[in-house]
Amino acid sequence: AKSEIGLIGLGTMGAMLALNIAEKGFAISVFNRTTAKTSEFFAEAGELAPKITPTMSLEDFVESIEQPRNIILMVPAGAPVDEQIAALRPLLGPDDLIIDAGNANFRDTQSRAEQAEADGVPYLGIGVSGGEEGARHGPSIMGGGRQEAWDRVAHILTAISAKYEDTACATWMGEGGAGHFVKAVHNGIEYADMQMIAEIYGIMRDGQGASASDCAEIFQTWNKGTLQSYLIEISGEVAKATDPATGQPVLDIILDRAGQKGTGRWTVIEAQHLGAPVPVIEAAVAARNLSAMKAERVRGETTFGAAPSALGKHTLSADELEQALIAGKIMCYAQGFHLLNNASVEFGWDLPMPEIARVWREGCIIRSSMLNDMAEALTAAPKDNLMFAPFFAKLIEENAGGLRKVVSTALAHGLQVPALAAGLSYFDAMRTGRSTANMIQAQRDFFGAHSFERVDQDGAHHGPWGSGA
Ligand code: 6PG
Repeated sequence: AKSEIGLIGLGTMGAMLALNIAEKGFAISVFNRTTAKTSEFFAEAGELAPKITPTMSLEDFVESIEQPRNIILMVPAGAPVDEQIAALRPLLGPDDLIIDAGNANFRDTQSRAEQAEADGVPYLGIGVSGGEEGARHGPSIMGGGRQEAWDRVAHILTAISAKYEDTACATWMGEGGAGHFVKAVHNGIEYADMQMIAEIYGIMRDGQGASASDCAEIFQTWNKGTLQSYLIEISGEVAKATDPATGQPVLDIILDRAGQKGTGRWTVIEAQHLGAPVPVIEAAVAARNLSAMKAERVRGETTFGAAPSALGKHTLSADELEQALIAGKIMCYAQGFHLLNNASVEFGWDLPMPEIARVWREGCIIRSSMLNDMAEALTAAPKDNLMFAPFFAKLIEENAGGLRKVVSTALAHGLQVPALAAGLSYFDAMRTGRSTANMIQAQRDFFGAHSFERVDQDGAHHGPWGSGA
């Protein structure tokens, strides 16, 4: 019998996804360019082997899948996807569906979807989150492309996805690159959540002399409250781990230089294109860039002296640190959903806001209990800034004071809190009825005659500066 689905690319994520699909009872064919990997994968498939057909050529792979074919690509984002599509399409029929499940830039997905449309063949771009574990046992899936194409494979994608209670964390987001756009915003938020946790860790470590295991305990406590989330949970786990070779906390021997594959950066770039303010995410991406400048930072420390200093008597309580994270997190998500709203309008997607919060409740890296509250808030008011949802407005009232105290104390001691500070500034900007942009408008009109609006009259006006006033 032929397979119900095929998968190309047996890297970590592809291999895990293939096992997940097989485990849910779907017969699957697999192919990898380096065929030794296919043999190795099949040899290790154990009791799932009967559901798996390993193939050693693209032709055999295609032949082994029932028509109309559904084929998942799990190859590195960028040129490899185009190369794989180019190799595959000539072997396929017009109804055969290619599904790119990698971390594609949504603009690439958008143009591949347009090409597929022009060629009259189906195409999907789906964002898959949850790392290795998620891929193996239930990721969060954000689909994009023609809805008919999604409907064709929805039973497989929902079967393999994470479940929140009984709801599958797999949803069609919209046409073209919508799924990969939602995934990029997920990753931007992921960067910001991670950065804010790292900032709080920095305050505890450098400001309060906390050991890794002290931090672990605090994260574990927070994971039982409002901050309950996968990222807080694993922060506790990593903080408590010991390096077997040296006996030191693992955290203390890890170099302070963060990697990035680009998805967080894409989010920020797209936010700029769309005029959506996402300062918390921007700060998180910038912090990763700064982290890479290790040599310059060391030079700066020699030149100017070390920045972080102990808080001494200006102590911050664990509750205040927790409040700062809660308030910062709300600002970050408010910005992320605002960006999604702008994109939805710009690209004509009609993104389902509450559904986005729902698919993020389980399986993905940013899963947290707060996302369920966000789903509820967005059901009531999908286009409203999350800050104004009664549930979150109340949380902000309760926690903004802690955020302000943490940020101001940290800044006074040279402790870095760029993402939290960006969250606080956003909050303050969002409750400043009269901003200082009148000065910007005056300057623009002065040097470029760009005109300004007046508070007391309609229309475009100019200042009296032309004659050297
Ligand atoms: C996920 C993650 C994942 C991401 C890696 C690395 O949702 O499972 O977002 O897709 O690619 O975690 O991302 P960076 O290398 O950019 O940190």
